[in-house]
Amino acid sequence: MLSGYLVREMRDDEVEEIILTEYEHFGYSVFADLSTSDYRKKVVVCEEDGKIAGFAVLYWDDENFHIGSLIVKVEFRNRGVGRMLIERASREAYKLGFPKVYADVSVSSDALEFYMSNGFEIEETIRHYYGISKHAFRLSLTV
Ligand SMILES: CC(C)(COP(=O)(O)OP(=O)(O)OC[C@H]1O[C@@H](n2cnc3c(N)ncnc32)[C@H](O)[C@@H]1OP(=O)(O)O)[C@@H](O)C(=O)NCCC(=O)NCCS
Repeated sequence: MLSGYLVREMRDDEVEEIILTEYEHFGYSVFADLSTSDYRKKVVVCEEDGKIAGFAVLYWDDENFHIGSLIVKVEFRNRGVGRMLIERASREAYKLGFPKVYADVSVSSDALEFYMSNGFEIEETIRHYYGISKHAFRLSLTV
């Protein structure tokens, strides 16, 4: 792990920051949407000097384990924070007995390269996932 950074579980008083950051980046909150689903979920955050540098919203059911969102704040990017969060997500999946971590990303997203450079592979294309003609790749990483 990079020095100065700590990866840990989210605290209850950080829920609002997570939801607002998701809205800022995506216009919706995966964390909030999960509240009305049957999925189990966990948020892992990477902090530096008491500030949240980035976080990943993880969720799973009996079948699969997913990264629902992963955001690194702009001022903390390109320092390996995203990679640390993926490593933590893989460990969480492994501890729960899942062989893979899944992530769905838009075919036109910058995040695609980020995931691919962290070992993810394209499993399938999900057509019209984000709306008409807005396709997604389902990516997976073997843990
Ligand atoms: C994508 C994101 C999470 C990357 O976080 P980060 O902390 O800057 O990434 P890291 O520093 O850990 O980079 C890890 C690897 O991914 C690569 N990478 C990171 N961002 C990239 C990008 N936008 N395009 C291509 N490659 C990228 C890095 O080059 C690095 O690879 P390398 O070690 O081979 O050079 C961050 O840019 C972000 O929060 N974006 C907005 C939200 C988003 O799109 N989230 C993902 C979908 S849920």
